[in-house]
Amino acid sequence: MRDITIFDTTLRDGEQSPGCSMYLDEKVTMARQLERLGVDVVEAGFPFASEGDFNSVAAVAAELRSSKVAALCRTVPSDIERAAEALKEAKHSRIHTFVATSDIHLEYKLKRSREDVLKMTDTAVRKARDHADDVEFSAEDATRSDVDYLCRVLETAVNAGASVINVPDTVGYTLPSEFGQLIRTIKERVVGNSDVKISVHCHNDLGLAVANSLAAVEAGASQVECTINGIGERAGNASLEEFIMALAVRQDRLPYSTNIDTTQLYPSSRLLSSIVKFDVQPNKAIVGRNAFAHEAGIHQHGVLSNPLCYEIMTPESVGVPKNSIVLGKHSGRHALLSRYAELGITIDDADIGEVYTRFAALADRKKNVYDQDLLAIAPQNIPAVLAA
Ligand code: KIV
Ligand code: ZN
Repeated sequence: MRDITIFDTTLRDGEQSPGCSMYLDEKVTMARQLERLGVDVVEAGFPFASEGDFNSVAAVAAELRSSKVAALCRTVPSDIERAAEALKEAKHSRIHTFVATSDIHLEYKLKRSREDVLKMTDTAVRKARDHADDVEFSAEDATRSDVDYLCRVLETAVNAGASVINVPDTVGYTLPSEFGQLIRTIKERVVGNSDVKISVHCHNDLGLAVANSLAAVEAGASQVECTINGIGERAGNASLEEFIMALAVRQDRLPYSTNIDTTQLYPSSRLLSSIVKFDVQPNKAIVGRNAFAHEAGIHQHGVLSNPLCYEIMTPESVGVPKNSIVLGKHSGRHALLSRYAELGITIDDADIGEVYTRFAALADRKKNVYDQDLLAIAPQNIPAVLAA
């Protein structure tokens, strides 16, 4: 089993998504939950960006004792000093410095030459390494950069003292096979036999962030950057819960371990939703409201006989209290009788036909049938306490 470091950027890249900004106390609450979840590195913010971000990073740094706290900064001396200042109280600290490496970013955003960026990388990493336990360097827009030049920049960062080199798919453009190949190239040309870690940071513009992260791990990456509920710039970042459960469910093909306690995934998702005040879509993998809900009669019967018929993981394994059978017009008698049994009601054999007919008629008119509806259509032998 190879260990994969989980670097969570919910509080930094995640917070950059529209409508997801968080107050300082909310960030600290979320950071505590990320530590409980077992995240190795919590990226708490971008201290140079604002006073608020600086204070939040400082507060998270003072709070966490087992997870490392990372602060983001450009390859600019004043940014690095601000990040270092914010991390002063951290038990374990990381400065994460980044600069773009694609020609399009160099020409239109940075207005710098390739040689300038090499110098900026060298100077920034050397400065950062005096102010934190370790330094991570990111080559922004790596997947649209010239590969030879990208390798030169990453090599410069390693020679200057970076122990983690991050390969961001900043615009969510790459494909799994192509990204895997890029990681293999970087491993061969830049890392060699050294202890330097390759990290990946995938955006979800084509819905491929988790697939690309998995391909990268198979190709040799040993740190994955992700967020709870997949929040992040534009279409978001790789979803932590999806990446982790892919590893957990497919251990046969993905022999990698992490420090994540999977039973904290659902609580982490719910906490984040309550803080940012918007929920994940109902069909979101792992943490969506319908992720373990079964409506079709055949599926419900199968799940009631043995959950493995239609569930590749148990709701309990990700911290969901129990699977929820949604009763609707596709539901069969097994699910109906099972729900009555959970409500403490036994339907006599002689009444089953009549109760099911009433249920089917109701389900035809209503989208979902709730417990109160079932009580209303049950025969008169309902215990008084339940009918009340
Ligand atoms: O998407 C990106 O390139 C980033 C970097 C700052 C790592 O968020
Ligand atoms: Zn990003």
